[in-house]
Amino acid sequence: MVKTLSPREAQYDIDPVYLERWSPRSFLEKEVPEEVLLSLFEAARWAPSAYNHQPWRFILARTKEDREKVLSFLGEYNRMWCKNVPVFALILSKTENETGPIRSHAFDAGAAWGYLSLEAVRKGLATHPMTGFDFEKAREVLNIPADYAIDALIAIGYQGEKEALPPSLQERETPSARRPVKESVFEGSFGNPVK
Ligand SMILES: Cc1cc2nc3c(=O)[nH]c(=O)nc-3n(C[C@H](O)[C@H](O)[C@H](O)COP(=O)(O)O)c2cc1C
Repeated sequence: MVKTLSPREAQYDIDPVYLERWSPRSFLEKEVPEEVLLSLFEAARWAPSAYNHQPWRFILARTKEDREKVLSFLGEYNRMWCKNVPVFALILSKTENETGPIRSHAFDAGAAWGYLSLEAVRKGLATHPMTGFDFEKAREVLNIPADYAIDALIAIGYQGEKEALPPSLQERETPSARRPVKESVFEGSFGNPVK
């Protein structure tokens, strides 16, 4: 074993940042400085994308008014813990351009989110991705054009105390484990285990 961060263990040598990123639900109602916030999107900017289309777009919600708009389309469960979240970022990806559909729009936006989330760890910030919201309502409320897919909503901020959450959420406020590498990696054909 290379590194232990209970219940997270790396089987092979990796940078600790991968284990340190997780998705808490308790956030402090504390402002994130603009320079720090934008550095996460700087990291996202350098993600690879097919033909360098950079299909990702982000809509930030930081003011009370903008955050209220986000809360208005969240599912009930997510609304329970999102009330204190100081920054939301809705991730969109452009689905087509002049030459036709952008097949990998969501894949590319996913890579950008991955970069963003790891830079957040470096900056002492927590992130929590969500798809538990009304996508159609979000499109309407935020005036999103039809040629942009809505991929996910990200909560961004400084992590709060577990005890600040409603009791039902406190027991889930812990980093989760993963299945072993070799259960995800096949060799030669589907389902064929790596030696
Ligand atoms: C696309 C996506 C959608 C998710 N939607 C929600 C959500 O609606 N509500 C929530 O509490 N967590 C949501 N999660 C968080 C996952 O449950 C979490 O990432 C997963 O359990 C792994 O835990 P970790 O991020 O702490 O490592 C979502 C994660 C992803 C990547």
